[in-house]
Amino acid sequence: MPAETPDLGAIERAALGEVAAADTPQSLRETRARFLGRRGSLSGVLRSLGELPAERRSAIGSAANALKQRIEAWVGERQAELERDLQSAELAKHRLDVTLPGASLRRGALHPVTFVERDMVEFFQGLGFSVVEGPEVESDYNNFEALNFPPDHPARDMHDTFFVEGGAVLRTHTSPVQIRAMRDREPPFRFIAPGRVFRTDHGSTKSPLFHQIEGFLVDEEVTFADLKGVLYAFAHHLMGSDVPLRFRASFFPFTEPSAEMDFWWNDQWLEWGGCGMIHPRVLENVGVDPARYRGFAFGMGIDRTAMRRYGIPNIHALFDSDVRIREQL
Ligand code: DAH
Repeated sequence: MPAETPDLGAIERAALGEVAAADTPQSLRETRARFLGRRGSLSGVLRSLGELPAERRSAIGSAANALKQRIEAWVGERQAELERDLQSAELAKHRLDVTLPGASLRRGALHPVTFVERDMVEFFQGLGFSVVEGPEVESDYNNFEALNFPPDHPARDMHDTFFVEGGAVLRTHTSPVQIRAMRDREPPFRFIAPGRVFRTDHGSTKSPLFHQIEGFLVDEEVTFADLKGVLYAFAHHLMGSDVPLRFRASFFPFTEPSAEMDFWWNDQWLEWGGCGMIHPRVLENVGVDPARYRGFAFGMGIDRTAMRRYGIPNIHALFDSDVRIREQL
């Protein structure tokens, strides 16, 4: 008995409706299987083509194959649609309202001492000086003796020293970095050494912890005039060319002659730092021949420079952690 002519039109209508109605990838897969799967209705038609009379076989076969292609295409389109919907739903879930006012970040700033220190270092780098550093806990030898302070010398009283168990000290100045830097090197030298120093001092312009920048230059032809010229240029760079300055004779065991430099601020002369020509005995102590080489050195206060620059009358405002003060700096 000849097989019935399959109703491809009915299969097509059903497939169109069901593919369009599939609303998840899973149900779309199931829909596809109902038509094109191993037991799908269209697969059934294709399988039973052989039972059809020869004269209709080829026409129905090609119509069924064409329908198969169309259903695959609808499934593909519906699949893409479902993926797009899923993606939009996901995006909608994580939607950002870019018009909401932002939370403002609190912005940090460099500490005035750091700022001034960097400015100082840059000035000297421009003159060909390099930065060297030393430790804050220093030997008595480097802090005093090599700098020509013999044991029990009264000049040690100028430095109100914090002693560390075992004979070391908290360095009272940055000058010991001169010793460390020169000892293992051959002149000429052009170095600066900024850092923290410690003294048992207290007052509105004195703090037990403060900052100095040491500088020293050693070469064959170096004069006191070079020192003075460099320090005046340095002061003008930091505080403006109209800053009142005073250069006066002084004493340090490690320089001869020695001087101190002051600037005028807040109705008084404020000591900025000491300087001088490096004492021949210091050069000898680090293995430099004083008959051939000479040098100048200085050690200036960084904190006082920052006080003047930022109009801070009390040095402790720089180091207290009171947020109301910090925020103004
Ligand atoms: N170290 C001295 C002090 O803290 C300052 C000083 C004076 C440094 C003369 C120098 C110098 O390099 O040559 O009081």
